[in-house]
Order: sequence, then C-alpha cells, then structure tokens
Amino acid sequence: MIIRKFEERDLEQVKAICFSAFSLTAFHNDPVFTAEQAGALIWELYARPAVTNSRNYCLVCEDNSEVQGFIVYGSYGELAKLPGRRTASIVLLAVKKEQQNSGKKIGHTLVYNCLSLFRKNDVKLVSVGTDLNNLAAQKIYSSTEFYPALYWSTWRFHSGPSVFPETTTIQAIFGVPEEVTKKNGARLVSFLEDPFFSDAEKQKIREWYLRPKESSDMMPLEVMSSGKSAGFVLLEKEKTVSDLTGRQVFRIDGVYGPDPSAERTLVEGALKHCSTLAKEFTVEMFLRSDDWRGAKTLGGLGFSLVHNSVTLHCRL
Ligand SMILES: CC(C)(COP(=O)(O)OP(=O)(O)OC[C@H]1O[C@@H](n2cnc3c(N)ncnc32)[C@H](O)[C@@H]1OP(=O)(O)O)[C@@H](O)C(=O)NCCC(=O)NCCS
Repeated sequence: MIIRKFEERDLEQVKAICFSAFSLTAFHNDPVFTAEQAGALIWELYARPAVTNSRNYCLVCEDNSEVQGFIVYGSYGELAKLPGRRTASIVLLAVKKEQQNSGKKIGHTLVYNCLSLFRKNDVKLVSVGTDLNNLAAQKIYSSTEFYPALYWSTWRFHSGPSVFPETTTIQAIFGVPEEVTKKNGARLVSFLEDPFFSDAEKQKIREWYLRPKESSDMMPLEVMSSGKSAGFVLLEKEKTVSDLTGRQVFRIDGVYGPDPSAERTLVEGALKHCSTLAKEFTVEMFLRSDDWRGAKTLGGLGFSLVHNSVTLHCRL
C-alpha cells in the first residue's frame, strides 16, 4: 500500500469513489436529490477542482495497482496569511466502499500522511468538517487529536405554495455594509469559535469572509418591512448545485438584523426574493446546532433540518 500524489491516470477511479463511497452527506440525506446527483455533487464541488485545476491537492492510496482511497486537502491561501499562522483544511476523505473498515486502516493512513505534509509546510491549524453521525471518520480524527470547534446544521426550504407577506420588500445593495462586517455573529465560521485565534485575528478573519468578491454569486439584500429597514441578508446562488440538479438552489449566508427578533422577517424576505428569481427553488441555511431560536424560526417558515455536521480542528 503506497500513498502518493494524485496523477492524471487516477481520475476515473477517484471519480468512481466519489459516486459510490458516500452516504451520510447533506446531499445524500435530502430526498430532493437522487443518490446519483449527490455523488456528482461531491465530485464537482470537492474532488474535481482539486484534481483538474489545482485548486487544492489530492493524495491517493494505491494498492494492487488500484486507487483504494484519496484525501483532498488545501491551504486557506490568503486567509492563512492573515493571522500570521498557517491554516489548512482537509476537504474530502474517502475510501472505496469494499475497502472501508477492512482492517487496512486506509482512512487513518491518508490522514496521517496529510498531517505530516502539513507539518512540513509549517501549518499550525487544520480544520475538517464531517457528518456528525460519521463515526468512522470521527474515530480517525479524534485519534489524530482533532477536537470539535463548531457543531452546525444544514436546513433547507423547498418551494411550495407559500405566500410571502406583501409588506416585505427587498432591495439589492452593493457590497456588504460596515455594520454587518463589524457584527460579532457574522457567518458560521469555525475559526471564530476557536480560542486558538485572538480577537484581533478573528476580526481579520471575519472581514476576509465578508470581503467583496469579484466573481461571487453573493447577493447582499436589504429587507424592508412596512417601509422600514429590517436589516440585511446575504444570499448566494449555489451555481454548481443548481446547474447539476436543475433546481435553483440558493444559500442564506447570513442575516443581520438590529436584534434577533428580526430574523424571521429577514429570512422570509430572502425566500420572497428567491420566489421572484425562480418558480421552483431550494434555499439552504446553516445554523449552529444549539441555535434553538433559529431552529424554531426556520421550522416555522417551512425549512427542514437535513443534516448535522461538526467542524474539527487540530493544532500542529
Ligand atoms: C470514513 C472513511 C474514510 C474511513 O475509512 P477506513 O479506511 O474504513 O478507516 P480506518 O479503517 O482507517 O478507521 C476507521 C475506524 O473507525 C471505526 N469504525 C468504523 N465504523 C464505525 C462505527 N460505525 N462506529 C464506531 N467506529 C467505527 C473502525 O473500527 C476504525 O477504528 P480503529 O481506529 O479502532 O481501527 C470511510 O468509511 C469512507 O470513505 N466513508 C465514506 C466517505 C466519508 O464519509 N468520508 C469522511 C467525510 S469527509
């Protein structure tokens, strides 16, 4: 069994593993997507960019001249430089279905090798997200000293015969207002939860995530309720997911109201806006798993909880 860098000839085998190895992800868990679509999304969103256009990198485990598993990893590039301490991530880990839990410890071996590469490159913090009920993956990560930094959930709204309030109107705005950038709760980012980073570093990280992006599908919106501003919503079109499934999929990336009671109006405003963009659509939103108030709001608006995740960190 050898671990080596991905080569062109591995492409079809890595792709096949993407389509067959996974079963617990937020796409596999949601009945709106077929298993085929879920596999295709894993490939298109996470593995293909690493093996075809050198965004991220890939190591494979080869045994008997076949790829038995792979790991996709990356550095946070610009973000990694901000705190002055290098950060990196494990983007995807998968072992061929027949080789999972085989006693060969392929998953462990891929993670060890990836961490040792990170160490050589002076990485100080590694993050990885995984399904909360993925006990095999968590066993591997806990044995390599990863610790939970953030528990979070994916909620999805699939359009139906909803009626959105007439009193709510939406206007697109240019860029993210300063009050949003400064707000503490901005975006669900595990780095903002980890005491590894100082408050000053966290502020830089927050600003980095909210920076205007040239080629982004991010739509910052202001929601007006009865003629008054209720706050802002960052809405993003999930282009790859939409293209691949034929369903228009959006994500609410953050809601920023003067107080938590505005959240319902803001999410409702975002849904209303999506209903003007597409007849049939899906809206996704991530919540901290312990955000009971948010869960009640989303549940009340017809969202369903589709997936629980944990983001783990490891200090090297
Ligand atoms: C997660 C995955 C990569 C693990 O690969 P693997 O080669 O089977 O992993 P290993 O054999 O090295 O280690 C798995 C460990 O989990 C344990 N395990 C497996 N299933 C388990 C379960 N249901 N409950 C508890 N422990 C479990 C194994 O006993 C083993 O423990 P050990 O360290 O004591 O031997 C593989 O199952 C996989 O590809 N899953 C689908 C893709 C995926 O979920 N990727 C992770 C998310 S990014």
